[in-house]
Amino acid sequence: MASRKTFNQFSVLLILLMNCFAFLVQCGRPHNTEGEDLVTATCKHTLHFEVCNSSLRSVPSSSITSDLRVLVEIALNLSTTYAVVTLSCVHELQSNSSAAINIYVSHFLRDCEEEFSGAIENLQDSKEALANGDCDGVDTLVFVAMSDAETCEDDFKDMSSEGNYSTSPLTQHNRYFSELCSNALAITKLLT
Ligand SMILES: *[C@@H]1O[C@H](CO)[C@@H](O)[C@H](O)[C@H]1NC(C)=O
Ligand SMILES: *[C@@H]1O[C@H](CO)[C@@H](O)[C@H](O)[C@H]1NC(C)=O
Ligand SMILES: *[C@@H]1O[C@H](CO)[C@@H](O)[C@H](O)[C@H]1NC(C)=O
Ligand SMILES: *[C@@H]1O[C@H](CO)[C@@H](O)[C@H](O)[C@H]1NC(C)=O
Repeated sequence: MASRKTFNQFSVLLILLMNCFAFLVQCGRPHNTEGEDLVTATCKHTLHFEVCNSSLRSVPSSSITSDLRVLVEIALNLSTTYAVVTLSCVHELQSNSSAAINIYVSHFLRDCEEEFSGAIENLQDSKEALANGDCDGVDTLVFVAMSDAETCEDDFKDMSSEGNYSTSPLTQHNRYFSELCSNALAITKLLT
């Protein structure tokens, strides 16, 4: 009887140990399943996976880092760079006399110029917030930058109701910029 009881206790212990082991295997790598690297695992938490995956991978250091903070910094850098690209697109449109000749278009471009200049400042500040470990600050600043692009797009809609315009010359830029910012916000959330 005694040895049987010991055997039962041993079985129970063994089963418990096996469960613990299975649990550890599952929980030890919360964001990572077989064969996935950090970029793929991280991008699965964003709303725009393809944009996240391709933009992060355009920066080689994203593939070698195991630090989520580095991915956040890269995401903020990508958003900043694209805001700069969009601002120079605005300047190009402004210097194009046939596009700028219309009073509605030139108002719209001037507003978008202000919005993207503001977005660039906010994104630069968000990198300082990240360096200071202030995730809430990053969140707020990126959200404001993202709203700027939406304002630029809405300005055009207001204008097009008065004019003859169906598509904004900045729609693609505004959309891609919003997606980059949305991804940066989602990746920042993983830090907290
Ligand atoms: C992520 O991007 C890389 C390179 O652009 C591509 O090879 C890979 O298939 C993408 N991953 C997924 C899950 O789509
Ligand atoms: C982000 O951009 C800054 C300024 O261009 C650069 O110094 C830094 O190395 C970049 N960070 C990453 C993680 O690539
Ligand atoms: C200038 O604007 C006109 C009218 O919007 C457009 O057809 C033309 O492609 C633009 N040129 C440049 C260089 O952007
Ligand atoms: C809309 O188009 C018509 C015809 O091309 C033009 O006469 C009118 O001035 C345009 N309206 C605006 C607000 O540009």
